[in-house]
Amino acid sequence: MTGPRKRVGVLISGRGSNMVSLAEAARAADYPAELSLVVSNIPDVAGLERARNFGIAAATVDHRAFGKDREAFERAVDEVLRVNQIDLVVLAGFMRILTPWFVKRWEGRMINIHPSLLPLFKGTHTHRQALEAGVTEHGCSAHFVVPELDAGPVILQAKVPVLPGDDEDRLAARVLVEEHKLYPAALAEVASGRARLVDGAVIRS
Ligand code: GRF
Repeated sequence: MTGPRKRVGVLISGRGSNMVSLAEAARAADYPAELSLVVSNIPDVAGLERARNFGIAAATVDHRAFGKDREAFERAVDEVLRVNQIDLVVLAGFMRILTPWFVKRWEGRMINIHPSLLPLFKGTHTHRQALEAGVTEHGCSAHFVVPELDAGPVILQAKVPVLPGDDEDRLAARVLVEEHKLYPAALAEVASGRARLVDGAVIRS
């Protein structure tokens, strides 16, 4: 690894299992990123406690305090990130749509994990969408965040089979196992500079 570890801020809204997989990966001395901060938009979610158990600073910026003013909420989040000298933002089960203002501010420095093989099945209920479409393969995608929802260039993907008798929960659980491997690998690519967003595409070196 060359250079200091990148300081990562993870945005969550819930249980934070992807955040935990990143925190575990970041324990390795040669991992190119450290989890410096976890921010939830919902108070008292399990992910905040799990972050503190890893010794990671954890904060809440409650979006409800800002009413319909999405940008005011994001300015508050941005301030916490800035104060903590965050280099990279990682969305991990963060259930707020971000405005172009915030996305532009962190362009090339913000990634997301989405539980489908993008560009298939954007938005929510991706496992239901996959079952209804009758696909035989499903999975997850780690991607750079761009203003259009779930449209950012893909860094890494992992596939799982859709099996006879699958329901949403079974399929989600199978995908989640892959998310927990894929996201630490994708963050390592970005934090090390091996994957970069250039002119809307992922460039590898
Ligand atoms: C994951 O499936 C993620 O891909 C999706 O929301 C879920 C969050 O789970 N966007 P967790 O909070 O990381 O456990």
